[in-house]
Amino acid sequence: MSAWYLSPLRKTLKTLLSWIETRQGESPRKDQASLLGREVHVPTPLVTAGSAAVLFFVLLPETGLSPHKIWALAGMLAFLVFFFVMYFRYDLPQFVNDDEAVFLTGLCLVLGVIFVELGLGIKGFPVYALPIGAIAVVVTLLLHIRLALLITFVLAIVAGVLNKFSFATMMVTFFAGTAAMLASKSVRQRGDIWRAGFHVAWVTAVAIYGLGLFNAWSFKTVWAQLRWAAPLNGFLCAVIPLGLLPVLESFFSRVTPITLLEVGDFNRPLLRRLMMEAPGTYHHTLLVAAMAEQAAEAIGANSLLCRVGMYYHDIGKLVHPEYFIENQTMRRTPKDKPEMHDKLNPSMSSMVIMSHVKEGVALARANNVPEEILRFIPEHHGTSLIKYFYMRALEQNEEEAPPAEIYRYSGPTPHSRETVIAMLADSSEAASRSLEEPTYERLLDLVEKIVNSKFMDGQFDNAPVTLADLRKIINSFAHSLSAIYHVRIEYPELPEQDASRRLPPNQSQML
Ligand SMILES: [Fe+2]
Ligand SMILES: [Fe+2]
Repeated sequence: MSAWYLSPLRKTLKTLLSWIETRQGESPRKDQASLLGREVHVPTPLVTAGSAAVLFFVLLPETGLSPHKIWALAGMLAFLVFFFVMYFRYDLPQFVNDDEAVFLTGLCLVLGVIFVELGLGIKGFPVYALPIGAIAVVVTLLLHIRLALLITFVLAIVAGVLNKFSFATMMVTFFAGTAAMLASKSVRQRGDIWRAGFHVAWVTAVAIYGLGLFNAWSFKTVWAQLRWAAPLNGFLCAVIPLGLLPVLESFFSRVTPITLLEVGDFNRPLLRRLMMEAPGTYHHTLLVAAMAEQAAEAIGANSLLCRVGMYYHDIGKLVHPEYFIENQTMRRTPKDKPEMHDKLNPSMSSMVIMSHVKEGVALARANNVPEEILRFIPEHHGTSLIKYFYMRALEQNEEEAPPAEIYRYSGPTPHSRETVIAMLADSSEAASRSLEEPTYERLLDLVEKIVNSKFMDGQFDNAPVTLADLRKIINSFAHSLSAIYHVRIEYPELPEQDASRRLPPNQSQML
């Protein structure tokens, strides 16, 4: 006979497993795993429970082992978890289904507690130099500045509790952490992290001085406290992120603005090749990058990621640049020169066009382009239909319609607001080239049509984009495109000048 507790236990486990399964299904990263390689997948409930358990066992020896204290600590941590979950839901909803972001948050919290424990455990380590600011820098750069504030607050409480419920420790570490968070917001190069360290140092010094004023410490006591604590805290808050960020960036598909700027440098070999070997695509890339950056700013998405992602979105065209219209430089009208695709049947042409996605992913991976940027390559086309060649195939096979599936990109569809912008900027820029007399109203109408058709085609089904966002993107694109195609005034011709001062005719024309 089976034990009485087995049946409810089995039931609970089954429910938990099926819940984890459905949650994984909802994860924005899931169906990219095959194409984009390594993914960190730890279900959110496991991360939450794990982080709470680590905090529990770290704090337990400090609070004492009596039953009522154990209960109080468990209750406090349960409350903390509840607070975090609510905060994510209401303030950072983009992270709710993002297992990776939750995992990173839990990891940073645990790392912060370990730093505090280590700092307090090392004999002679200045207590006001607990490097909570280092965690604030990492969270600001990899996740979100508001989340960094929350984590700083929680870690400052933990530091206070672990240091015999010291309010002073809590206060100084909180101010130092806040300084690190604010200073790292504007970090653009690795060297800027040292600047954040400098800000942490002086804020720590001021906070200790303030404490001294409160407690009527003598100057000697204040100096003894801040002499080592301030510079050491600043130093650690720069050195730890400098060491941690590359490791975390390689394990998680998150990039800091520092890496983005490094990857977006046109002196990098891949971008240089684009400039030299596919000038048309390079020009298109610059236009869509500017458009995407502005639209991202309009909806509060990551504009730097958008810009750099666009630099790489068509990198796969480097393999066969001549098959893409923008690189057929001498061809102004269809009659000018036979097109590369004239020799191919529509299904073959669409295969060549589609191959730029796979080639792009391979090229980017071979050049160590971060995953977050790599996503722009497959997602900027999603599962869109290559209409031009599909229509050509329809014209050629009048009796039997060809299957539309073979004229569709393999996807995945956009999973972030940034890649939605990428898809729309790419299509809008391409379509606007064929517009005669591109006035603002005509451009607005064109972009609106493109957004509508992508929306109806289900391209945004997996992206956290709202209708209000789409409206802002449309307006932003219409503005950018009308700036590109602004009406130029016609310059009046000067009266005929002395012919002897003209340039000699082109040699090639004389032949
Ligand atoms: Fe493309
Ligand atoms: Fe493109």
